[in-house]
Amino acid sequence: MSDGHNERENWGSRIGFILAASGSAIGLGNIWRFPYMVGMNGGAAFLVVYLLLVATIGATVMLGEFALGRRMRKAPVPAFWQASGTHTWTLVGWMGTIGGSFIILSYYAVIGGWTLKYIVASLQDLMPQAVEGQSRDVFNHFVGSPTEVIAYFLAFMAMTVGIVLGGIGKGIERACKVMMPLLFLIMLVLIARAVTLPGALQGLDFYLRPDFSKLTWPALLDALSQGFFSLSLGMGIMVTYASYIRDEEHLPSSVAYVVFYDSLAAFLAGLVIFPAVFSMGLEPTQGVGLTFIVLPGVFARMPHGEIFSALFFVLLFFAAITSSMSLFEVTVAHGMDDLKWSRRKSSLVMGVIITLLGLPSAASLSGSPKLWGMDFLSAMDFLSNHIILPLCAILTCIFVGWRFLDRAEDEISNHGTYRFKLLRAWAWIIRIVAPVAIGIVFYKGLF
Ligand code: PHE
Repeated sequence: MSDGHNERENWGSRIGFILAASGSAIGLGNIWRFPYMVGMNGGAAFLVVYLLLVATIGATVMLGEFALGRRMRKAPVPAFWQASGTHTWTLVGWMGTIGGSFIILSYYAVIGGWTLKYIVASLQDLMPQAVEGQSRDVFNHFVGSPTEVIAYFLAFMAMTVGIVLGGIGKGIERACKVMMPLLFLIMLVLIARAVTLPGALQGLDFYLRPDFSKLTWPALLDALSQGFFSLSLGMGIMVTYASYIRDEEHLPSSVAYVVFYDSLAAFLAGLVIFPAVFSMGLEPTQGVGLTFIVLPGVFARMPHGEIFSALFFVLLFFAAITSSMSLFEVTVAHGMDDLKWSRRKSSLVMGVIITLLGLPSAASLSGSPKLWGMDFLSAMDFLSNHIILPLCAILTCIFVGWRFLDRAEDEISNHGTYRFKLLRAWAWIIRIVAPVAIGIVFYKGLF
């Protein structure tokens, strides 16, 4: 135990931590964005490059965040403050806490609310409407009704707060231990259904056919930024989760598991989506359109479609809520570590603030409010993912690589107990390769 922090909560088990961190990583991004990116950017060729990037740069940054979090045993703001002793570096902790936890959660939970609505709708009259080709109208009607969207958003936030209120072991870990295995199980059921549909092969062909000519520069940048978002990096999340890891755990192998599960979930999602979409003769698209508009149309044409549709949205709900918990834990830990609040007080106060901030996003798809010419939800997404996240990720790498390296290496080797063979390579990636690569993505994303 590090001295002086004997009361800090810990994950109950190694697998509990791995499932919680994977729960954070596996989210809406894996299911609605990743498969489409693979399909459009060269199939299997893109997949190989993506895996290489996450296994090198992504895993490196995750290991850096784990080392910082476990060493300092604090939420990001106090962790950066104590590790650096300067206000300047502490700003990086603030960027993660405000940019990640506050801003992302405020709109992520709105989309989480949509998944709840679609579970209910699947079992009610979504299927008959979708079979008539009306799923776009159903979606537009729903997101255009602020009262209903807000009601589901509140329900989703209440669940997130309720789980995090339970604490690390009894709240987040317990929930992830139930939800993550179920998520993979549902995925397997849906894959079995999708690949046995007539014409499924065409979908597999679109998804996986290697086409090296499509492996362009922008495609590589896409792969890298998707990798960061997908692994929940650059937002202080992994710093926070790692602050509850026991001292004896070996960090590099935990990283390997989380990267593996996250990539597996993303890959499997494509095996559900493309065979199903192609077999029904529909067009693949990405984002909201695919998940909430095209897929209900696909399910509606299958026997027992309502069951597969409900299962799919349960899967999406699990993916979303296990990510929301991690976003929320960053702020709750901030209240506890920096402001010395109890977990209860912190969860309730932060829950109310984030809910208030989410209301404009929830209402915004009905036409207003707008910000920078976009609906409020998209504006929040842009601000957090295109600006705050990459900046915070670059600065975290620079800090860990240049200011914290000895302490990080000591933490990674468990104070000399293990020899991590890739330590030298790790250090150079986090010092130079990762900041430069993320810097290029950041620049290209803005200009
Ligand atoms: N990693 C999640 C996904 O793939 C997204 C996420 C980002 C979750 C940031 C939490 C925090 O969807």
